[in-house]
Amino acid sequence: MSVAAGLIVGMTRIDKNPGNGKNAVEVRGLVKHYGSTKALDGVDLDVREGTVLGVLGPNGAGKTTLVRVLSTLIQPDAGHAVVAGYDVVKQPRALRRTIGLTGQYASVDEKLSGWENLYMIGRLLDLPRKKARSRADELLERFSLTDAAKKAAMEYSGGMRRRLDLAASMIGSPAVLYLDEPTTGLDPRTRNEVWDEVQRMVAEGATVLLTTQYMEEAEQLANELTVIDKGRIIARGGVDELKAKVGGRTLQIRPSDPAQLAAMAQAIREAGLDGVAGAQAVPDEGLLYVPILSDEQLTAVIGLLGTRGFSLAHVATALPSLDEVFLAITGDKATVTDTTPQEVAA
Ligand SMILES: Nc1ncnc2c1ncn2[C@@H]1O[C@H](COP(=O)(O)OP(=O)(O)O)[C@@H](O)[C@H]1O
Ligand SMILES: [Mg+2]
Repeated sequence: MSVAAGLIVGMTRIDKNPGNGKNAVEVRGLVKHYGSTKALDGVDLDVREGTVLGVLGPNGAGKTTLVRVLSTLIQPDAGHAVVAGYDVVKQPRALRRTIGLTGQYASVDEKLSGWENLYMIGRLLDLPRKKARSRADELLERFSLTDAAKKAAMEYSGGMRRRLDLAASMIGSPAVLYLDEPTTGLDPRTRNEVWDEVQRMVAEGATVLLTTQYMEEAEQLANELTVIDKGRIIARGGVDELKAKVGGRTLQIRPSDPAQLAAMAQAIREAGLDGVAGAQAVPDEGLLYVPILSDEQLTAVIGLLGTRGFSLAHVATALPSLDEVFLAITGDKATVTDTTPQEVAA
């Protein structure tokens, strides 16, 4: 039994009191250095009970290091963290029984079948035989692994392994679940299955700390977001809040007459369209940039310009890449101008 396997599941549920706003995870001033690398450089975060916190960050940001500290696999150099009421450094054993963890390391025995793996973990968690059996069946079914139940885990594809790993982390219905990039490298169908399962776990009362490199995944699953880069928190807030900060998409409008750019920008600003914060005219490019968050806003902006009698030569929207989201948040770049435009009209 690997160390990780001992950590993947737990039996204890936090006393549920929906809406009480209690934190299931509290992290303060967490520091972890590897030589001169500051993997965690003073991280503070909270995860409210029964919610999903998305920890968004590029490769090397410190996400896995954070999850490792919070699962007692490594010790922080400074700061402290409390999960489900247990201090990660002082009460590691109690904490391990409360958390589930899926991540970038194997918690599955290669030689055992999928079903045997889940059954064994259930038994290790002191589930009665009958309960361990039914839980194994149930989770294999949930993750579409029933057909592969009797196959050895070593014969599973990458996606199947990931699903088995997730199933294993859920056997004991852990109160707090860490998902470290749970869908990186998965095909869209499998990714959707994983998302459905996470949503179901949360509906059943679990608290989730999810790390991801994907804005879309964070959007699907997270109530709150924390953006981490180089071991530091660089932004946090609700999904819409962060999107608004970053601008979601950028609407690019080319008027037939470049001389009208400034008047168009002013018309948009003065119209006070719902959620449309501003418009920026860039005369050098002959373009007007308008950050938008929805198709409704796109329609409203174009509609407004039409009503005011502006003639448009070209309209496109550009999605910021995750890199641009980070750049925008860190303030290194003012506008999203060099994305690949997606044509919406000509
Ligand atoms: N065991 C380790 N030894 C040395 N450096 C490490 C170790 N683990 C992580 N790091 C470094 O710490 C930083 C954060 O890594 P990690 O937490 O794995 O980031 P992420 O999961 O966000 O990709 C990286 O620069 C990484 O190279
Ligand atoms: Mg990682």
